[in-house]
Amino acid sequence: MQPPTGKLYRWQECAEFDIEKIQELYREYFNKSQVELIGSFGFGRAVASHAEGMYIYTSDGRKILDFTGGIGVLNHGHNHPRILAARVEFQKQKKMEVHKNFLSPYIAGLSHNIARLMPEDLNISFFCNSGAEAVEGAVKLAYKYHDGDRKHILHADISFHGKLLGAAGLTGSPELVYNFPTIPNIECFEYGNIESIKDLVAKIRKPNGKSDIYAIILEPFSASSLRECSADFLKELRGICSGEGIILIFDEVYTGWAKTGELFNFIGKGAIPDIVTFSKSFGGGKSSISGYTTRTPLFRKAYDNLNEATLHSTTFSGFGEECITAIEAINIIVDDDYVGKSKRIHLRLSNGLKRLQGKYPDLINDVRGSGALHGVIFNKDINSFVKSLISLIPAKVFKDERFLSKLITGSVISELFSAHNVLTFFGDNREISLIISPSLIVSDEELDTFLDALDRTLAIGKLTLILNFLKQKVLKK
Ligand SMILES: Cc1ncc(COP(=O)(O)O)c(C=O)c1O
Repeated sequence: MQPPTGKLYRWQECAEFDIEKIQELYREYFNKSQVELIGSFGFGRAVASHAEGMYIYTSDGRKILDFTGGIGVLNHGHNHPRILAARVEFQKQKKMEVHKNFLSPYIAGLSHNIARLMPEDLNISFFCNSGAEAVEGAVKLAYKYHDGDRKHILHADISFHGKLLGAAGLTGSPELVYNFPTIPNIECFEYGNIESIKDLVAKIRKPNGKSDIYAIILEPFSASSLRECSADFLKELRGICSGEGIILIFDEVYTGWAKTGELFNFIGKGAIPDIVTFSKSFGGGKSSISGYTTRTPLFRKAYDNLNEATLHSTTFSGFGEECITAIEAINIIVDDDYVGKSKRIHLRLSNGLKRLQGKYPDLINDVRGSGALHGVIFNKDINSFVKSLISLIPAKVFKDERFLSKLITGSVISELFSAHNVLTFFGDNREISLIISPSLIVSDEELDTFLDALDRTLAIGKLTLILNFLKQKVLKK
């Protein structure tokens, strides 16, 4: 083998890199624009040294209250002791990871546990490693169930299903700005509008009058826009799908595992899907595992024969340590009543945010959310002084019609981090929102600390917030 063209780093050396070194290597070897993008914020210029529970500790000694919930991944908080213990034990016992020749006891146990928690005959699971893979697995299953006989799939105009070619084609979000090719025959309905689905279902038919739609995919709660479908809408949709033989897929990659007040958002709404996808906190914050669960007859018809049993699989599907982490993650969710925690968080957070909306009516247009996933939508009107200031910003950026919303939301995020040691992020769909998505281990005191920090941030007013943001962007402090 040719010797490397330079020194190779050990991981311990990487852990000691300062921000200049990380940025230099990103610019050279990873993604230069990502440095500029995240570098606009204080956290883009900090190094996270370690994290525990609700907190991230930076190498310059700051303790940051993490209200991002790891963008859905951290329902259990950072480095939950039971998750760490399970993984350490698994490693100590030198358990086997790859199970292509042997059947895996962990796949067996994990799929059993999920079936025990899912309603009706949602009994059969498949595991992979990202949300988009789970979505595409579900879409393939629906297509295969109809044996390729139906050609169309419907999705909502407000949706996020991932960035692979198929999942991105099913996504309705201005975030995905480039038109990649995708799977054929995708049609779009209006989120939450049953009439717009009925119109498409009536229209998309074969010459014999039967439906030509193999699946409808929907987020019952759209994490990127914080909008939620009503129980009536979901029930009617369920009825349409059952009547027409259309496979109903609920994408709960973000909302699954108790994020929005129930174990899954659809629970209790009177509409059970044929396939549900999940990921994020399924891995307990440590494992990149995702999957779908489907009804037994559906899976049996699609894949249950010797030729096609492995028609849909990946190298890492059902990897040992990922599966045991998910088993532990689910047990914690049940043992520690994460559904109850999510409901408690909902009450305190939504009351607190509504109170702030009442206090700052000129700043806040809307607050909405469920469980531990809420958003604040800011009023994007700004005065002429700020307008003239930001017109100095390169024209291409300024032409983005959502730029002002991004600027205001970004200014709040920046101030929360710089002045109050609180980490948040923004949601990017039709509207830009400040996303508040704490882990389910958050305490009442931490919720109050966050609400107080947001109150004090908004109290300084829109102009000062924007000026502070632009100042720290220029000074890079
Ligand atoms: C609802 C939903 N579906 C799918 C995805 C895609 O997941 P991934 O980024 O792991 O591919 C996401 C990611 O945020 C999501 O929120």
